[in-house]
Amino acid sequence: MKTNKHILKVKPYVGGKPIAEVRRAFGLKRVIKLASNENPFPPSPKVLKAITSAVGDVNRYPDGSCYDLRQALARKHKVSPEQLVFGCGSDEIIVMALRAFSNEGDEVVMAKPSFMVYSIAATAAGARCVEVPLKGLDYDIAAMKRAVTPKTRLVFIGNPDNPAGTFSPRADILAFMKGLSKDVLVFFDEAYFEFARDEKDYLDAMALLQAYPNIIVARTFSKLFGLAGLRIGYAVASPAVADILNRAREPFNVTSIAQAAALAALKDEAYYENILTILKHERAVLCAGLERLGLSYSRGATNFIQVRLAVSGADMALRLMKKGVIVRDMGSWGFKDQIRVTVGTPAENRKFLKVLKDNLQGDQ
Ligand SMILES: Cc1ncc(COP(=O)(O)O)c(C=O)c1O
Repeated sequence: MKTNKHILKVKPYVGGKPIAEVRRAFGLKRVIKLASNENPFPPSPKVLKAITSAVGDVNRYPDGSCYDLRQALARKHKVSPEQLVFGCGSDEIIVMALRAFSNEGDEVVMAKPSFMVYSIAATAAGARCVEVPLKGLDYDIAAMKRAVTPKTRLVFIGNPDNPAGTFSPRADILAFMKGLSKDVLVFFDEAYFEFARDEKDYLDAMALLQAYPNIIVARTFSKLFGLAGLRIGYAVASPAVADILNRAREPFNVTSIAQAAALAALKDEAYYENILTILKHERAVLCAGLERLGLSYSRGATNFIQVRLAVSGADMALRLMKKGVIVRDMGSWGFKDQIRVTVGTPAENRKFLKVLKDNLQGDQ
């Protein structure tokens, strides 16, 4: 069997284990998942209602242009509707960017470690991944700029990025953009925007759209807006860039249910702002708990925390899983002694801290 010549270089993405799989594997009744940076709360009642009403129309293809959502987001971001592109999750926007803008042998600059879909999509497109090591847990923005060559087509800036959870400060971003060739497209991945937006040094890349025609800003409904299971994200870019991205899009890539749910979520700001407040508070509760256990952890602005252990992250993740708590082993990102935990509900976070404590004590 002959394959596309790049595809075998791709290491398949391994996500957090689904709850049902862990229940089956360990014969557990109650399992909590703190492994995929999801919102642990159910969608707002208004979103559930929108989903229920949309279900009756699934015999029809969705509106491929996402008209209503497009209008609402154009108003929210004060851009024109043609500047928006929708994806089946923001993952798909990343894939579309590679498909649309890079040719075989082109270079794509990204941090190491970084969100895995950047390297998976770049490798599948035949591009060369130029990976710039983090400095501690921060982007080395100056080194990323030095890594740009005439062959560079795209630069990925996860802001904040996953798994480190840190964001690049405003001054670094501005310095990076200054004087950068307009032939290089900078992809700002703001999947965790809502968790970082109030940080003093955070720069929302949407503010750069006027000055820089060579940027893409991606957002998602999977994190704060809790629609991970429906798969919907979007990008804002200059009309010319959005037009090219749109050519790489599958015709009906966003389901009608996802469109209806996202629109309802946008309209229920109070519900999601309340969740944001709870999750920020719960993040602080988790951090305090980790400190009591004498563990160091990442200081990011997201709904997840990277935790350093004195033992193997893979072992600990397995032990926690057997107790019904799914976290992410950080081994595949090269952090062998770390796990990543997503901020859950108050009860889930307490359970995680208790099970972690029991397992750490078991080591002594
Ligand atoms: C940094 C980052 N970008 C993008 C995504 C993709 O999110 P989605 O495809 O669900 O919109 C994730 C999901 O974990 C992420 O961590």
